[in-house]
Amino acid sequence: MTWQLSNTALDEQQLLVNESLMFLGNGYLGVRGNFEEGYRDDFKSIHGTYINAFHEETEIQYGEKLFGFPDFQQKLANVIDTQEIEVYLDGERFSLFEGEIINFDRTLHMDQGYSVREVHWRSPKSQEAKLTFTRVVSFVTKELFAIKVDVEPISNVREVKLISKVKGDVTNYVEKDDPRLASNHAKLLYANEAKSEAGLTQVKARTERTDLEVACVMRHEHDGQHSIEHNGYEIIETFTFDGASNASLIKYNVYTDTLRHGDDLLEKGIQIQSKLVEFETILKEQKAYLDEFWRVSDIAIAGDDSLQQGIRFNLYHLLQSVGKDSVSNISAKGLSGEGYEGHYFWDTEIYIFPVFLMTNPEIAKGLLLHRYSTLDAARLRAKEMGHKKGALFPWRTITGPESSAFFPAGTAQYHISADIAYSFIQYYLVTKDEQFKQEYLAEVLIETARLWADTGFMKNGQFLINNVTGPDEYTCIVNNNYYTNAMAKYNMEWAYKIYQDMRESELVQQLGVTEDEALFWNEAAEKMLLPFDDELGINEQDDTFLNKQVWDFENTSDEEYPLLLNYHPLTLYRYQVCKQADTVLAHFLVEDLADDETIRKSYDYYEHVTTHDSSLSYCVFSIMASKLGYDEKAYHYFNETARLDIDNLHKNTKDGLHMANMGGTWLAMVYGFAGLRVKEEGLSFRPRQVKAWDDFSFSLRFRDRLINIQLVDGQVVYTLVEGDDLDVSHFNEQVQLSVGSPVSKVL
Ligand code: BGC
Repeated sequence: MTWQLSNTALDEQQLLVNESLMFLGNGYLGVRGNFEEGYRDDFKSIHGTYINAFHEETEIQYGEKLFGFPDFQQKLANVIDTQEIEVYLDGERFSLFEGEIINFDRTLHMDQGYSVREVHWRSPKSQEAKLTFTRVVSFVTKELFAIKVDVEPISNVREVKLISKVKGDVTNYVEKDDPRLASNHAKLLYANEAKSEAGLTQVKARTERTDLEVACVMRHEHDGQHSIEHNGYEIIETFTFDGASNASLIKYNVYTDTLRHGDDLLEKGIQIQSKLVEFETILKEQKAYLDEFWRVSDIAIAGDDSLQQGIRFNLYHLLQSVGKDSVSNISAKGLSGEGYEGHYFWDTEIYIFPVFLMTNPEIAKGLLLHRYSTLDAARLRAKEMGHKKGALFPWRTITGPESSAFFPAGTAQYHISADIAYSFIQYYLVTKDEQFKQEYLAEVLIETARLWADTGFMKNGQFLINNVTGPDEYTCIVNNNYYTNAMAKYNMEWAYKIYQDMRESELVQQLGVTEDEALFWNEAAEKMLLPFDDELGINEQDDTFLNKQVWDFENTSDEEYPLLLNYHPLTLYRYQVCKQADTVLAHFLVEDLADDETIRKSYDYYEHVTTHDSSLSYCVFSIMASKLGYDEKAYHYFNETARLDIDNLHKNTKDGLHMANMGGTWLAMVYGFAGLRVKEEGLSFRPRQVKAWDDFSFSLRFRDRLINIQLVDGQVVYTLVEGDDLDVSHFNEQVQLSVGSPVSKVL
């Protein structure tokens, strides 16, 4: 059960949620779990197929547009639809909304990489059949989405007919009153070619403004009678089978797009089609790919199947959504839906990147390279925002331009630039890849340090950064946000360090960094103001946070959460109320800047004013609870993350899965329960026994090693599985690891 997720009944209330939960993807392509045969007319499914980073730009309509507001917004486009396959038994159309469902089972196989939907159905006229729909989005051939339909007639059916469609004209989903979804511009893609040649159905479509093209080349495998019909940019193929035996149809859909496949997309698609292996082999390849993924990435717990399922589900979906080609990244909802319009946020660097960094570093590197490819756009944005130098990364984007229309909780979140710098540093600490340092890390650090140097200023011996927004979106445009300042300090310290190391290099010369400039980064970092309240003994979230009234939590009903859907932002900004971890997160990421007492008192304080209206919050509170020895809280907050989507705890899983939270589950276990930290000295652990679990184990990759960590029977066992000897720290004690010699420590 822990390797699968199943729906065993048709629950109409849950259909949209299940479309997200059952989505299949591979980081390039994502297909929502829509029903092939369609729905009842009055049922609005969120029908979607997405290609990571394939987008259109639409004009932002402002009532009042001020200087520097972005003109356009990028949006992930829903692409050519190949999901539809209608099924007819002697002319009666199969529908789950009519007739009788004798059995229904849809299962996502996370160890095998496909989903199967089995339905035993009796039609209104009492025809009976078992139908099986098997779907796979290949991890090996990223362009491929295949569907196999098997129909086994049970009653005396004379003829089985399958009608398979490809639709070039599709629209995106819009919902007016939810700021987390697109409120307009449903039409982003226009079909411009549809033909059938040499047994291949071929459809092309194009976006208008970005001028990107997507193509689908499709082929069927079957032993029925075939006919074909064109209806504009929709191609309809009919397959007729003798009802005396079982009918089977396989639909191989190959997607190509301008961002990866150059100009002749149909030709590319045809080539890929010609090399495809057969369906059963595709499934075997999936299994082999996933065996390797799970060997390194699985987290196993004993004693709680439901949590175990949640943990695997979250990891699996991260893998399905993460871009692996440096052309794309991972959006807030991955490839599972249209929430947040396919944009990449800081979610990547702080919540998702670490998971891949420590398990699949090549995927992590791809994410950084994608960000690096947007550095010029970030330089441009810095200029637009009035900075003389530096790079300001956008709050939300696909290929680089700022796509946020609401600057207080968008562009003002300058911390994203420090978050990106932080992830580049983390990559270097984990891999010690010197070439990476010279080619990418140095430039990103220099340009982001320049941004901070230009944004802040020295006053009375302190470096101040004014008018920014920290991670907490219920407290906007503030002076000296602790999180931002702490992260900027770290960013500048590192930039100075790298400068010292590389001052003679071509890059440093090219970028024109002067000694004075670099010295200023160092000075600003040293003198960075980190707000501290003497009375409470906590780091204040910003200069004025504690002067505000505390939100009246007692008189706020459950229905009023998330507050953002019920209160004007200004109302929220006037109170001490946090949407998500802010200072508490800084205490995790740059923990050495505060002493333990401050960290504890801050946690206790902010916990009482945090609503966790953002799903990015729980995991941070769990990690820090583990650090502070608040074991029950650590477990409680962790529990909120592990099944957040499966149980639809935020009530918006229909719009897509919460990718950052999914990464957060891993972080809460590895950085929280196992107490991992990655610093210049190497790896350190401060594990805590999780009472509820008899056994808890996971693996990490670190500088070409594979290390397994197991917490079992009151001890932790460190095992070096692959690679050269390595020293790690266990509660400040150096432990030497060698292959074949596990080391146990009592907890
Ligand atoms: C959170 C942000 C996050 C965004 C996308 C918002 O609700 O407050 O921190 O980046 O969602 O996940």
